[in-house]
Amino acid sequence: MKKISVSFLSSKNIPKDLMKLNQTDADYIHVDIMDGKFVKRKTMPFSEMKHISDFTQKRLDVHLMVEKPSDYIPLYAELNTEYITLHVELEEDIIADLEQIKQYSIKCGLAINPDTKVSSLIPYLPYLDEVIVMGVVPGEGGQAFIPKVGDKIKELKALLSSYPFSIMINVDGGITDDTKKYCEDADILTVGSYITNAEDFQEKISSLR
Ligand code: DX5
Ligand code: ZN
Repeated sequence: MKKISVSFLSSKNIPKDLMKLNQTDADYIHVDIMDGKFVKRKTMPFSEMKHISDFTQKRLDVHLMVEKPSDYIPLYAELNTEYITLHVELEEDIIADLEQIKQYSIKCGLAINPDTKVSSLIPYLPYLDEVIVMGVVPGEGGQAFIPKVGDKIKELKALLSSYPFSIMINVDGGITDDTKKYCEDADILTVGSYITNAEDFQEKISSLR
């Protein structure tokens, strides 16, 4: 059964939706962090974002869409965090960032954009606990899943099956009842608007597993 990580990026009332998610069997809360540089949009600063921990008991899956992850890792390591993921497209020293995450005994991941080659992940595989395959170009919630990403998920699955490490495949963005068919090889589905725009969160979560 797939795990479900819920993104509140498109939520209109974050405390209310987080408390509502406590009543569901969602596995993680996906925390999208944007710096206005790696992507155009900027999310709230840590001083505000940290309050999500007042409203959720679930473990956090932190997705850093930022140019300088090392500024954010120590902050998000303080919360109830299971995974911290940064982007493979970054220019900075990715291995140093992954090692920084490991120092906090937190699982680490790399996210890969729709136009980036799966092979770009190869140097980092020994460090990784998860790969987030983006189903959309990062920056906004509520975008349509890009179907060709389905091939990328299959290619990644084939690559990982030849490696002796256990690395979760997490697919993030544009996932609905219609597009989940592209994600059969995923272990985790990260889903925002399809769940948070609905009245009955549990019904949507169950429909995706
Ligand atoms: C996109 C974010 C995703 C997004 C998912 O930049 O990384 O996590 O919020 O939301 P939906 O499911 O609405 O595409
Ligand atoms: Zn995300």
